[in-house]
This record gives sequence, C-alpha cells and structure tokens, in this order.
Amino acid sequence: MTSILILNGPNLNLLGTRQPEVYGAETLAMIEERCRQHGDKVGVAVSCLQSNHEGVLLDQIHAAKGVHDGIILNAGAYTHSSVALMDAIYSVEIPTVEVHLSNIHARESFRQTSYISKAVIGQICGFGSFGYLMAIDALTHRISGPAPQ
Ligand code: DQA
Repeated sequence: MTSILILNGPNLNLLGTRQPEVYGAETLAMIEERCRQHGDKVGVAVSCLQSNHEGVLLDQIHAAKGVHDGIILNAGAYTHSSVALMDAIYSVEIPTVEVHLSNIHARESFRQTSYISKAVIGQICGFGSFGYLMAIDALTHRISGPAPQ
C-alpha cells in the first residue's frame, strides 16, 4: 500500500484559532482526520506530523526515506526561508508536494518566494484544507504512473 507522510510546520498547530479569515476554521486535527479518511478511500496509508522546529521537520524528512513513498509538506513560514528543508527534499529523493492553505502568491511579497517549490513535484495553494486532499491524489497519481515528459 502506498504510504504518504503529511508534514506541517510552525504555527499550523494553531489552526482553528489562528487568523481563521486566512486559514479557515478547521483545526489541524480535523484536517488530518479528513486526510486519513481520504487515504482510506483511495487506498493510501496517511501518517501525520506537525512540528514548530525546523530540525524536527528535517529529521522527519530524512527518516521518511525507505518508509514513505511520498511527502506532503506545508512548511509554514519556513517555506520562505529554509534552504535546509529544500536541501533535505532534494537529498531524500522522495516525491514531495508543497501545500499551502492560503494563496501565497496573492499575499505579501515575502510569501511569494518558496525555497520548497524548487525541490518538489508541484505546489498546491489557495484551496484551504482541500489542498491536502488534492495533494494526496496528485502524489498517488505520480507514484503509480510515469512522470510527465
Ligand atoms: C502557509 C503560508 C505561509 O506563508 C505562512 O507562514 C503559514 C501558512 C499556508 O498554509 O497558507 O504559516 O504555509
């Protein structure tokens, strides 16, 4: 069975109360449950982890090698600063999809740069929590099929 790791970065543990007008009213626990249920429906094992610490996110990406077939990463604010997370994704060579709840390209200019996007298959942003479900489908499609030419 395909196994996908969903990694969420800093401040995403505060979803539900954190700027709901930007990030929605669902808690991270609710989003993770929806992802697990969607995984059950499409035959994918979904594991979830959140950390506010860059080093923990790095360790989790390293540990995913040989364990998970794909990664879904919302690196939060580290998206815009972390060369280390970009390098980790390059290093493990695990297909990764970048997700953001908000449309980072329509926000402040500093949010429009993503180091993560250089190392991933693709980016999904602006669709709220539905983006994670889209990412599960996109990743499953990529893992089971040939890469586009
Ligand atoms: C975010 C967008 C980032 O710019 C921000 O720092 C976050 C959340 C999103 O999901 O929209 O923490 O990654």
